[in-house]
Amino acid sequence: MVLFFSGTGNSRYAAKRIAEISGDELISINDKIKNKDYSDVRSDKALVFVGPVYGGRFPRIMDDYIKRVRFIGSKNVYFIATCAATPWLTVSYAKKLCEEKKFSLRGFNSVVMPQGYIAGGGTQPKEVNDKVLAEADPKITAIADKIRDNKSLAEEKPGSGFMSKILNPIMYSVMITAKPFAVTDKCSGCGKCAERCPLNNINISNGRPFWGKDCTHCMACIAGCPCEAIEYGKKTQGKPRYYLGDE
Ligand SMILES: Cc1cc2nc3c(=O)[nH]c(=O)nc-3n(C[C@H](O)[C@H](O)[C@H](O)COP(=O)(O)O)c2cc1C
Ligand code: SF4
Ligand code: SF4
Repeated sequence: MVLFFSGTGNSRYAAKRIAEISGDELISINDKIKNKDYSDVRSDKALVFVGPVYGGRFPRIMDDYIKRVRFIGSKNVYFIATCAATPWLTVSYAKKLCEEKKFSLRGFNSVVMPQGYIAGGGTQPKEVNDKVLAEADPKITAIADKIRDNKSLAEEKPGSGFMSKILNPIMYSVMITAKPFAVTDKCSGCGKCAERCPLNNINISNGRPFWGKDCTHCMACIAGCPCEAIEYGKKTQGKPRYYLGDE
């Protein structure tokens, strides 16, 4: 079973490819969280978790989902992380999560994909993103082939603990807030931002979105807006949007 969390679409894209190649079921953790569904999950095949790296770890809401849910059946687990720069990842984080859940780790691999953090690290022009995606594709396929064949993944060099232990808590306490989100006159009132928010943090009122306080900075709202009508203070003005859609 392949379970993914994704804000700007990279992890969904990787998860879909892995599920296609391994002939496995695909589950959206976004939908599970949005619907407050923390019921038991049964899988006789290995569990494959695919998600983005936020400050050297998986997003806290994904981590929370994995910790809260009872997984019945196979205890074999793969973790696939999509990120903007591999050296910031920490394998030790995945090992600790496995210890807590009594999972047997079959592999932890990361794939560099286009930078999706428009309100943080910024975004890249389309030509750069296309090149990064073309380089990511064979890596995702190689990972999927191994998972299909039930093989373990080659161990990656452990990343610096600085990101996951020091920067991660700072990032969550200082940077991760929905306050600067605002909508411009380009908004058509389509409601897609509210639909996409995994935390139901956006309400549409009189045809305009309003943000609450429960935000994990997944960037699904701002990146996926078809009218490019959302800004994050001045930070995002004039920056290219990146969203790897499936519609
Ligand atoms: C809040 C936040 C924090 C991030 N922190 C990191 C990081 O520590 N290291 C990194 O390489 N990329 C980081 N990124 C970039 C994402 O990991 C990368 O764009 C990922 O592929 C996004 O996946 P998604 O499209 O499935 O949401 C961060 C992105 C966000 C939104
Ligand atoms: S997705 Fe964009 S256009 Fe649609 S309601 Fe939200 S801000 Fe407006
Ligand atoms: S408000 Fe936007 S950035 Fe925050 S969790 Fe919802 S979709 Fe993600």
